[in-house]
Amino acid sequence: MSETNRHWVLTDRPKGGNFNEVLDLREEAAPEPGEGEYRVRTIYLSLDPTNAVWMQYDTYLPAVPLNSTMRGLVLGVVDKSNHPKVKVGDIVSGMGRWADYLITNGEGMGKVPRLPGLPLLSYLGPLGMTGATAYFGLLDIGRPKEGETVVVSAAAGAVGSLVGQIAELKGCRAVGIAGSDEKCAWLTDELGFDAAINYKASGWRKALRAAVPNGIDIYFENVGGEITEAALDLLNLKGRIPFCGAISQYNATQPAPGPRNLSVLVSKRARMEGFLVLDYTPRMGELYTEMGPWVAEGRIKWRVDLDQGLENTLTSFAKLFNGGNRGKLAVQVSPEP
Ligand SMILES: NC(=O)c1ccc[n+]([C@@H]2O[C@H](COP(=O)([O-])OP(=O)(O)OC[C@H]3O[C@@H](n4cnc5c(N)ncnc54)[C@H](OP(=O)(O)O)[C@@H]3O)[C@@H](O)[C@H]2O)c1
Repeated sequence: MSETNRHWVLTDRPKGGNFNEVLDLREEAAPEPGEGEYRVRTIYLSLDPTNAVWMQYDTYLPAVPLNSTMRGLVLGVVDKSNHPKVKVGDIVSGMGRWADYLITNGEGMGKVPRLPGLPLLSYLGPLGMTGATAYFGLLDIGRPKEGETVVVSAAAGAVGSLVGQIAELKGCRAVGIAGSDEKCAWLTDELGFDAAINYKASGWRKALRAAVPNGIDIYFENVGGEITEAALDLLNLKGRIPFCGAISQYNATQPAPGPRNLSVLVSKRARMEGFLVLDYTPRMGELYTEMGPWVAEGRIKWRVDLDQGLENTLTSFAKLFNGGNRGKLAVQVSPEP
């Protein structure tokens, strides 16, 4: 903890995932809050695949301007306040910066509810944006029915590992697709998935087919590319595809070819629907009500893959694209109060 503000500045648009070349760690005096503002000391910085997109171009948010501090979700503690409704010591989370400190008037930032008995880190995982993505994406967009088969890609990651468990809790058969045997063993042996397929092993498409003897009712899309095509081939009549993300394409230097078998949606009368977790912010209460007890009772297992030190952010960030993380990836920037 220091009164110096270290912050990662975006100096150029990344190409092909060369984040080390376009982000620069700089230091400045820690900022002071003005009238109606407060200062947040970052405790945890959430690292998310979408950060790579924000560095490159406008999407649902404008691209991060060049030569400004990189944007990111943070969980932190208020250490100075000139805001009438926020006091020193409050724990808050929301849209922040890759930095030790940030100044805010509270827009895009909210107090963490602190349900009894749950650690702070759970608000980065199942009770934070990650949990909301899995919960609303599967239940609101996928609308699972008991006995259905749910397949999820990037299954050992932050969102995917929760999707499969929520599917199981709703009486579905959950099948995960992930990038190593070790990840697959974690999914089936510890998280309770019915089956898991290593998409880097030869014959994985055959293994996927065998793992879904009744076909796929819901394919929760996190990665895009070849895995999407395999899932489309196995989709059932009236299948649903909550389109959460396409990480395989975030660092692509050429536009990726679309799935070659998209017309399956016609013959199967299936639905593919994109969604953004930010739209569900007003419904976070539903997440706390249903997911909170599941987490407290250990019926949902979760893991934060926590690296230490703001200076190690880029090494940590690379894990999202080389499969190095298991569960929610984050960096601890300063100690919990
Ligand atoms: N729509 C929304 O509002 C929303 C919100 C949050 C996240 N998302 C999206 O949800 C997806 C998962 O995000 P997350 O935060 O939970 O990340 P994550 O799954 O924890 O981490 C990313 C994982 O993706 C896998 N991966 C990376 N490159 C891949 C490739 N080329 N092909 C297949 N798999 C690859 C890696 O695991 P393997 O070892 O298995 O390859 C990696 O660990 C992303 O697409 C993200 O953009 C969307």
